[in-house]
Amino acid sequence: MRVRRLAPRDADAFRALRLEALRLAPFAFGAALAEEEHRPLSWFGQTLGHAAVFAAEHGPGQLGGMLGYRRDSLLKRRHIGHLWGMYVRPKARGQGIGAALLEAAIAHARAEVSVLQLMVGEGNPAARRLYERAGFTLYGTEAASLRVEGVEAVTLLMAMRLG
Ligand SMILES: CC(C)(COP(=O)(O)OP(=O)(O)OC[C@H]1O[C@@H](n2cnc3c(N)ncnc32)[C@H](O)[C@@H]1OP(=O)(O)O)[C@@H](O)C(=O)NCCC(=O)NCCS
Repeated sequence: MRVRRLAPRDADAFRALRLEALRLAPFAFGAALAEEEHRPLSWFGQTLGHAAVFAAEHGPGQLGGMLGYRRDSLLKRRHIGHLWGMYVRPKARGQGIGAALLEAAIAHARAEVSVLQLMVGEGNPAARRLYERAGFTLYGTEAASLRVEGVEAVTLLMAMRLG
Protein backbone atom coordinates (compact mmCIF):
# COMPACT_ATOMS: atom_id res chain seq x y z
CA MET A 1 0.00 0.00 0.00
CA ARG A 2 1.34 3.42 -0.88
CA VAL A 3 -0.09 6.87 -0.32
CA ARG A 4 -0.06 9.24 -3.28
CA ARG A 5 -1.76 12.43 -4.33
CA LEU A 6 -4.48 11.86 -6.90
CA ALA A 7 -4.44 13.72 -10.22
CA PRO A 8 -7.39 14.64 -12.48
CA ARG A 9 -6.74 11.44 -14.49
CA ASP A 10 -7.72 9.44 -11.35
CA ALA A 11 -11.27 10.85 -11.51
CA ASP A 12 -12.86 7.42 -12.13
CA ALA A 13 -11.36 5.73 -9.07
CA PHE A 14 -11.91 8.84 -6.95
CA ARG A 15 -15.57 9.03 -7.99
CA ALA A 16 -16.18 5.36 -7.10
CA LEU A 17 -14.58 5.68 -3.66
CA ARG A 18 -16.28 9.00 -2.90
CA LEU A 19 -19.73 7.68 -3.80
CA GLU A 20 -19.13 4.53 -1.71
CA ALA A 21 -18.18 6.78 1.24
CA LEU A 22 -21.32 8.91 0.90
CA ARG A 23 -23.48 5.77 0.57
CA LEU A 24 -22.00 3.79 3.49
CA ALA A 25 -21.24 6.56 5.97
CA PRO A 26 -23.90 9.28 5.58
CA PHE A 27 -23.21 10.77 9.00
CA ALA A 28 -19.50 11.17 8.32
CA PHE A 29 -19.82 13.76 5.53
CA GLY A 30 -21.64 17.05 5.00
CA ALA A 31 -22.44 16.18 1.38
CA ALA A 32 -25.20 13.73 0.51
CA LEU A 33 -24.96 10.92 -2.06
CA ALA A 34 -27.88 12.51 -3.95
CA GLU A 35 -25.81 15.67 -4.45
CA GLU A 36 -22.84 13.93 -6.04
CA GLU A 37 -23.96 10.68 -7.69
CA HIS A 38 -25.24 12.41 -10.83
CA ARG A 39 -22.33 14.76 -11.27
CA PRO A 40 -20.30 14.21 -14.44
CA LEU A 41 -16.88 12.60 -14.24
CA SER A 42 -15.37 15.97 -15.20
CA TRP A 43 -16.62 17.43 -11.89
CA PHE A 44 -14.63 14.83 -9.96
CA GLY A 45 -11.61 15.55 -12.13
CA GLN A 46 -11.91 19.27 -11.40
CA THR A 47 -12.08 18.56 -7.66
CA LEU A 48 -8.77 16.72 -7.98
CA GLY A 49 -7.37 19.73 -9.79
CA HIS A 50 -8.13 22.28 -7.09
CA ALA A 51 -7.94 20.23 -3.87
CA ALA A 52 -5.14 17.92 -2.79
CA VAL A 53 -6.63 14.47 -2.37
CA PHE A 54 -4.37 11.76 -0.97
CA ALA A 55 -5.23 8.11 -1.49
CA ALA A 56 -3.94 4.76 -0.29
CA GLU A 57 -3.45 2.50 -3.28
CA HIS A 58 -2.79 -1.25 -3.24
CA GLY A 59 -2.63 -1.71 -7.01
CA PRO A 60 -3.08 0.55 -10.04
CA GLY A 61 -6.39 2.36 -9.52
CA GLN A 62 -7.21 0.19 -6.45
CA LEU A 63 -7.93 2.74 -3.75
CA GLY A 64 -8.38 1.65 -0.13
CA GLY A 65 -8.91 5.09 1.36
CA MET A 66 -8.61 8.81 0.80
CA LEU A 67 -8.39 12.19 2.49
CA GLY A 68 -8.85 15.67 1.01
CA TYR A 69 -7.12 18.94 1.86
CA ARG A 70 -7.82 22.44 0.65
CA ARG A 71 -6.42 25.79 1.59
CA ASP A 72 -8.92 28.48 2.58
CA SER A 73 -9.29 30.94 -0.29
CA LEU A 74 -10.23 34.07 1.67
CA LEU A 75 -7.31 36.48 1.96
CA LYS A 76 -7.60 36.76 5.75
CA ARG A 77 -7.90 32.98 6.10
CA ARG A 78 -5.16 31.86 3.74
CA HIS A 79 -3.19 30.56 6.73
CA ILE A 80 -5.93 27.97 7.41
CA GLY A 81 -6.25 24.59 5.72
CA HIS A 82 -9.19 22.20 5.86
CA LEU A 83 -9.20 18.42 5.87
CA TRP A 84 -12.30 16.78 4.39
CA GLY A 85 -13.63 13.51 3.07
CA MET A 86 -11.60 11.04 5.17
CA TYR A 87 -12.69 7.54 4.21
CA VAL A 88 -11.13 4.08 4.47
CA ARG A 89 -12.97 1.13 2.90
CA PRO A 90 -14.43 -1.22 5.56
CA LYS A 91 -12.09 -4.15 4.74
CA ALA A 92 -9.01 -1.94 4.92
CA ARG A 93 -9.70 -0.41 8.33
CA GLY A 94 -7.63 -0.87 11.46
CA GLN A 95 -4.35 -1.20 9.54
CA GLY A 96 -3.11 2.34 9.90
CA ILE A 97 -4.33 3.62 6.53
CA GLY A 98 -6.26 6.50 8.13
CA ALA A 99 -3.12 7.50 10.05
CA ALA A 100 -0.95 7.30 6.90
CA LEU A 101 -3.37 9.49 4.94
CA LEU A 102 -3.41 11.99 7.76
CA GLU A 103 0.38 12.07 7.89
CA ALA A 104 0.60 12.76 4.13
CA ALA A 105 -2.01 15.54 4.23
CA ILE A 106 -0.42 17.19 7.27
CA ALA A 107 3.04 17.12 5.64
CA HIS A 108 1.59 18.76 2.52
CA ALA A 109 -0.34 21.37 4.55
CA ARG A 110 2.74 22.32 6.59
CA ALA A 111 4.29 23.93 3.52
CA GLU A 112 1.44 26.42 3.07
CA VAL A 113 -0.72 26.91 6.20
CA SER A 114 -0.21 27.26 9.95
CA VAL A 115 -3.60 25.99 11.13
CA LEU A 116 -5.49 22.88 10.06
CA GLN A 117 -9.18 22.41 10.79
CA LEU A 118 -11.58 19.51 10.38
CA MET A 119 -15.05 18.40 11.39
CA VAL A 120 -15.92 15.01 12.85
CA GLY A 121 -19.19 13.47 14.02
CA GLU A 122 -19.66 13.28 17.78
CA GLY A 123 -20.64 9.63 17.39
CA ASN A 124 -17.44 8.68 15.57
CA PRO A 125 -14.88 7.76 18.26
CA ALA A 126 -12.56 5.94 15.83
CA ALA A 127 -12.08 9.05 13.70
CA ARG A 128 -11.86 11.39 16.67
CA ARG A 129 -9.18 9.25 18.28
CA LEU A 130 -7.23 9.15 15.03
CA TYR A 131 -7.26 12.96 14.83
CA GLU A 132 -6.35 13.38 18.49
CA ARG A 133 -3.35 11.09 18.06
CA ALA A 134 -2.18 13.27 15.17
CA GLY A 135 -2.37 16.38 17.39
CA PHE A 136 -5.85 17.80 16.74
CA THR A 137 -7.77 19.23 19.68
CA LEU A 138 -11.41 20.13 20.10
CA TYR A 139 -12.31 23.83 19.72
CA GLY A 140 -16.08 23.73 19.41
CA THR A 141 -19.21 21.83 18.62
CA GLU A 142 -21.97 22.43 16.12
CA ALA A 143 -25.37 21.34 17.39
CA ALA A 144 -27.83 19.84 14.90
CA SER A 145 -25.07 20.05 12.30
CA LEU A 146 -26.47 17.36 9.99
CA ARG A 147 -29.93 15.96 9.49
CA VAL A 148 -30.08 12.60 7.73
CA GLU A 149 -33.54 11.15 7.18
CA GLY A 150 -34.84 13.10 10.16
CA VAL A 151 -31.98 12.11 12.50
CA GLU A 152 -29.83 15.00 13.72
CA ALA A 153 -26.14 14.73 14.59
CA VAL A 154 -23.70 16.91 16.48
CA THR A 155 -20.39 17.75 14.80
CA LEU A 156 -17.13 18.35 16.66
CA LEU A 157 -14.78 21.04 15.36
CA MET A 158 -11.10 20.16 15.70
CA ALA A 159 -7.96 22.09 14.89
CA MET A 160 -4.22 21.76 15.02
CA ARG A 161 -1.46 24.39 14.87
CA LEU A 162 1.38 23.49 12.57
CA GLY A 163 4.69 24.48 14.11
C1 LIG B 1 -12.32 6.69 10.70
C2 LIG B 1 -11.57 5.89 9.66
C3 LIG B 1 -11.09 6.82 8.56
C4 LIG B 1 -10.33 5.24 10.34
O1 LIG B 1 -9.56 4.60 9.33
P1 LIG B 1 -8.51 3.43 9.68
O2 LIG B 1 -7.68 3.16 8.49
O3 LIG B 1 -9.23 2.28 10.27
O4 LIG B 1 -7.64 4.17 10.77
P2 LIG B 1 -6.34 3.61 11.50
O5 LIG B 1 -6.21 2.13 11.27
O6 LIG B 1 -5.19 4.48 11.12
O7 LIG B 1 -6.66 3.93 13.04
C5 LIG B 1 -7.88 3.62 13.59
C6 LIG B 1 -7.79 3.88 15.07
O8 LIG B 1 -9.10 3.99 15.61
C7 LIG B 1 -9.25 3.03 16.63
N1 LIG B 1 -10.62 2.63 16.65
C8 LIG B 1 -11.26 1.82 15.79
N2 LIG B 1 -12.55 1.71 16.15
C9 LIG B 1 -12.69 2.47 17.28
C10 LIG B 1 -13.78 2.76 18.16
N3 LIG B 1 -14.99 2.26 17.93
N4 LIG B 1 -13.57 3.58 19.21
C11 LIG B 1 -12.35 4.12 19.45
N5 LIG B 1 -11.29 3.88 18.65
C12 LIG B 1 -11.46 3.06 17.59
C13 LIG B 1 -8.29 1.93 16.29
O9 LIG B 1 -8.01 1.15 17.43
C14 LIG B 1 -7.11 2.75 15.81
O10 LIG B 1 -6.41 3.29 16.89
P3 LIG B 1 -5.02 2.59 17.41
O11 LIG B 1 -4.07 2.62 16.25
O12 LIG B 1 -4.59 3.46 18.55
O13 LIG B 1 -5.41 1.21 17.81
C15 LIG B 1 -12.44 4.74 9.07
O14 LIG B 1 -13.00 4.01 10.12
C16 LIG B 1 -13.57 5.24 8.18
O15 LIG B 1 -13.38 5.49 6.99
N6 LIG B 1 -14.80 5.38 8.72
C17 LIG B 1 -15.97 5.77 7.93
C18 LIG B 1 -15.88 7.21 7.43
C19 LIG B 1 -15.52 8.17 8.51
O16 LIG B 1 -15.97 8.07 9.63
N7 LIG B 1 -14.67 9.16 8.15
C20 LIG B 1 -14.22 10.19 9.05
C21 LIG B 1 -14.99 11.45 8.78
S1 LIG B 1 -14.48 12.77 9.89
